[in-house]
Amino acid sequence: MASSKKRVAILISGRGSNMTAILDAAKASDYPAKIALVLSNKPDAKGLETAANHGIATEVVDHRSFKGDRKVFDAALHKHLTAHRIDLVVLAGFMRILSADFVAKWTDKMLNIHPSLLPSFKGLDTHQRALDTGCRLAGCSVHFVRADMDSGPIIAQAAVPVLDNDTADSLAARILKAEHTIYPHALELVASDKVSVQGMRVRINSDANMLCAHQDQQLIF
Ligand code: GAR
Repeated sequence: MASSKKRVAILISGRGSNMTAILDAAKASDYPAKIALVLSNKPDAKGLETAANHGIATEVVDHRSFKGDRKVFDAALHKHLTAHRIDLVVLAGFMRILSADFVAKWTDKMLNIHPSLLPSFKGLDTHQRALDTGCRLAGCSVHFVRADMDSGPIIAQAAVPVLDNDTADSLAARILKAEHTIYPHALELVASDKVSVQGMRVRINSDANMLCAHQDQQLIF
């Protein structure tokens, strides 16, 4: 079984809580992915230390050394991914925009998580924008990456309620809990080849394709 596991690189820029959720899930012997590399564009990303403590190989490609040349930065990323024989790339709070050429190399092999119910609220400040717009539901989405920011076929979404006394921080904390549930699950589905893409639609061939209710969140796979 071990040899058939997909080799995954997780790309981070910061604390790496989604990365940690995936590392924890990947400890299960039947999880279909092996986390082979954690790579950060920031040398001081807290998640690098966490990954090293889990015994995972880490690399840093500091975007500041590339003086805005995105293609050269992306080529450096690609070199590391190739060197570690990576099958799937997982963006987990990786806050760099990737070039269309790089994205094309990883079509349907690169996942991202975004803290909104896409296609609403792409970009930054999603939680405050959901509050300012008066949303009753907010949430998070795991999607295959396409060249446009925060776009691509959606693999999993979770919706959570927006409460009357919510601040951006309290809403972000509720959504983050849901992120930690759906991201390992979405990666599991992709790594076990249960996912196919038709245009913008993702088909999931699994019993786990279901709606399940948790205490304060609705998880929709
Ligand atoms: C997460 O909330 C993730 O959804 C968001 O950054 C945070 C990273 O937290 N990603 C984006 O906004 C991407 N557009 P983490 O480092 O603790 O996983």
